[in-house]
Parts: sequence; structure tokens; C-alpha cells
Amino acid sequence: MAKSVFGVIGLGVMGSNLSHNIIKNGFSLSVYNRAVEGEAHLVTDFLNEDKTEDSVFGTTQLEEFVASLERPRKIFIMIKAGSAIDYLIDQLLPLLSENDIVIDGGNSYYEDTNRRKTYLEKKGISYIGCGVSGGALGALNGPSLMVGGTHGAYNEVKVILESIAAKDKDNEPCCALLGPEGSGHFIKMIHNGIEYVEMQLLAELYALLSTQYSNNQIASIFSEWNESELNSYLLDITAQILTKKENGTYIIDSILDKAGNKGTGSWSSKVAFDLGSVNTMMASAVFARYISSFKTQREILSEQISTKREVEELNLETLKSAYKFARIINHYQGFEILRQASKAYNWSLNLSEIARVWTNGCIIRSVFMEQSIDLLNDGQSYLDHKSVINLLHKFEVDIKDILGTGLKVRISLSAFHSAYDYWIAMTTKRLPANLIQAQRDYFGAHTYQKIGHSYDEFFHTNWETI
Ligand code: 6PG
Repeated sequence: MAKSVFGVIGLGVMGSNLSHNIIKNGFSLSVYNRAVEGEAHLVTDFLNEDKTEDSVFGTTQLEEFVASLERPRKIFIMIKAGSAIDYLIDQLLPLLSENDIVIDGGNSYYEDTNRRKTYLEKKGISYIGCGVSGGALGALNGPSLMVGGTHGAYNEVKVILESIAAKDKDNEPCCALLGPEGSGHFIKMIHNGIEYVEMQLLAELYALLSTQYSNNQIASIFSEWNESELNSYLLDITAQILTKKENGTYIIDSILDKAGNKGTGSWSSKVAFDLGSVNTMMASAVFARYISSFKTQREILSEQISTKREVEELNLETLKSAYKFARIINHYQGFEILRQASKAYNWSLNLSEIARVWTNGCIIRSVFMEQSIDLLNDGQSYLDHKSVINLLHKFEVDIKDILGTGLKVRISLSAFHSAYDYWIAMTTKRLPANLIQAQRDYFGAHTYQKIGHSYDEFFHTNWETI
């Protein structure tokens, strides 16, 4: 058999769907999965599923897999992030040749990708960290691909990656080389941070609306919103989820309220501390998931207090405006972390291009993401636009109203609160940080700056002298 132009390692849901996508786009492909218990059937299953057997080679032998690829070899790793990737790289290395290219398509941590890239480049192998978004269907029909690596390596794989990627409204691939080394995985991590918040906002709206509306009615409200500039993939699937029944009952009502996570949301929250950026909304969404996981403790505590709720008439237009407000803040915080990282790591990220890559295929695709291409153009941020500031200021009254409702009906609205608090703090000329400085100087002589003096002048007071 002729050698394959591309190879995929890992035939889990994402890997096999991506492989079907590659074949569907006319590329010859070799696939490999280890023959360990519970996975030994994956290669044969894949080959049986795919009817274009003349363009596909499958094996559970790594040597055979590598030998079946034309050079320079292009290998897409689609396995669980973490040490398994390092183990696989060590198995692969003796079989590879100079200028081969290894692409990690998992949700790897960007610093791990930086390390692997350095390690492999010393051995003449190119390493690409590729964020893949869109879930199983995205992998099959067109994911959003956030590539981090060198121009040379990307040029070798761009035809295949851009062919399988989702297309934007101008039929351009939602796939691009966005920066060097681990930048692609960093961008995917922040994608997931924004995603967590978008999901949490919808969960908080669902909690509020459930005080007065049925699942079907909430689904109708969300479907109507989805016809507006609030349109998004997550709003669309949420409306579908709320109507789905099994044996005559709503599935959503039977699902336990304990949210899981695979780590990308907490990574995106932590990285803000390292960069001195502010992502209060991502942190609130991650902690909301963690709080949900303390189900037993919440059951015990809730039994011990009487939570009398004053149910308030909800104004749907107010809710909609508050949702718009919170989404703008979420996207602002997300893109500002990307801006900070770009500066800190000299990645020269183009935020407008990242928004374009996120307009289709990925989980956070939305009309607002389409609008963000222009809003973020030429290095601008959302808050460089008076129109956005005016909108946020206009919606303050709405978000204050729903936060008040949340307090009255005793519903936790942590993501909405973090959006509002961030905006208020960022638009307050004089914050009480002067007292923080005084306290720090009192017990630690850490000094402080003074109003009306240059920022490089520092002062200290002997606070304890009478
Ligand atoms: C995507 C998703 C995906 C993510 C899963 C699980 O962009 O396709 O973000 O990559 O890993 O949705 O994420 P959590 O388990 O962390 O919610």
C-alpha cells in the first residue's frame, strides 16, 4: 500500500471522528491505537466503519504505523493530556526521522507543550500544540483548530488541518497558526475558560427562570433569544437540552447537580494570577462547579435552615440585558488574558484572528464572536469602543435588578455577581486601595505612593509613633 500523508494516534471519540473527517476530505491516513484491554478493538472497529479502505491503514503496532507514513511524517496525537503524551513521545522518538512533525491535539497544558517542543526540536522533530474545539461532532464535521508552532511546521500540515476545520462566514478555515510553542494550547485553555462562564451564566439564568417557568417555557425563551444577537451554540443546545424527554419525563430533571471538569477551567483561572490579569468570572464559574460537587454537605446544610423564598416576577427583557452585560465582561476578561500572555511570552497574538477562528466549529461560537472580529481589530479591546461602554453602562440597571432578585429568592448568581463587581470596580475612579497601602506600610513598611506625586516616588510613615 502507498504511504499515508497523515497519521492519527488515538482512536477515542475525538481521534476517530477527526480521522473520519481527514479521510472524508480525501487524505490518505494511517491510524494507530495501542492494543491494551478495552482499546484493542478500536482499530478494527474504525477500519470497519470506514468504507474507503484503500486510503486507510490501521494497526496496533507503533512501528508499522510510523513506517506506513510518507516523510516528513505528520502525526496527530489524540490521546488524554498528561504523562501519557510524554510516554508516547518516548516510544515514538526512536522511530522518527529528522523534520518529522508531531501534533498534540489534546487539551494539554501550554507549559507542557513548551517543554515537549524544546525536547523534540533538539532531536530535529517539529512539535505543534493544537487546540481542538467542537467536541465529537466538531471533530467529525469541522472543529476550530488553534495552532501553536513554527511557520515551517505549520506549512507542512496546513493543507490538511485547514481542509478538516470548520469554515467561517467567508468560507475561510477556522484554523490558523496563532502563535509559537504552547500558544495554541494556551488559547484553547482560555477558550475553555470563556466556555465555563458562558455555561455558568446559562445555568444561573435557568435557576432564576425555573422559579416561574417550566423547562419547555424556558426553552422557548432561550430559543427566542437565540434568534437575536444573543445567538450562540451554547444557548442553542441549552434550549434543546431543556425539552429533551425520556419515558415522558424531562432528562434535565433527573440529572444530579454535581458538575465535573477536566481541568482546563481551573488552569485558565490560575494563569490570571501568574499574569496579573483579572478573570473573576472564570474563577466564579470554576468555584460554582466545585461548590456543586459538595452535594452531601449542601443537602445537610439546606435541611438545617429554612430558606423562605420571596418569588419575584421576572422581567425577561431585564434578564436578557443582564445576560448581554455578563457575556461582554466574560469575553473581555478572556481576551485580556490572551493580550497579557501575548505580552508576557512575546507571542504577538492577533486577538481578532483568534475571534475569527472561534466563529465556527468551537463551543463558544456566537454572533458576539463574529462581532468581536471587528471589535478586537488592530489590537483594540472591547472597552476601547464607546458603544460597548455605553451598552454596559446602560445594562447596569438590569444586572443590578437580577442580582437583587437573586438575593430575594436566595439563588446563587456567582457569575453574574462577578461580572457586575468587576465592571463597578473598573469604572470606580477611587477605590479603597489607599487603606490597603497604609495597612501594608504600617505592619510591613512596604511604602506607598502619593496622589499628585510621580508613580516612581514611594513614601513610608512611622504609624506607631504618637
Ligand atoms: C471543546 C471542549 C472540550 C472540553 C470538554 C470537557 O472545546 O470541545 O471545551 O475540549 O474538554 O468540554 O471540558 P470540562 O470537563 O473541563 O468541562
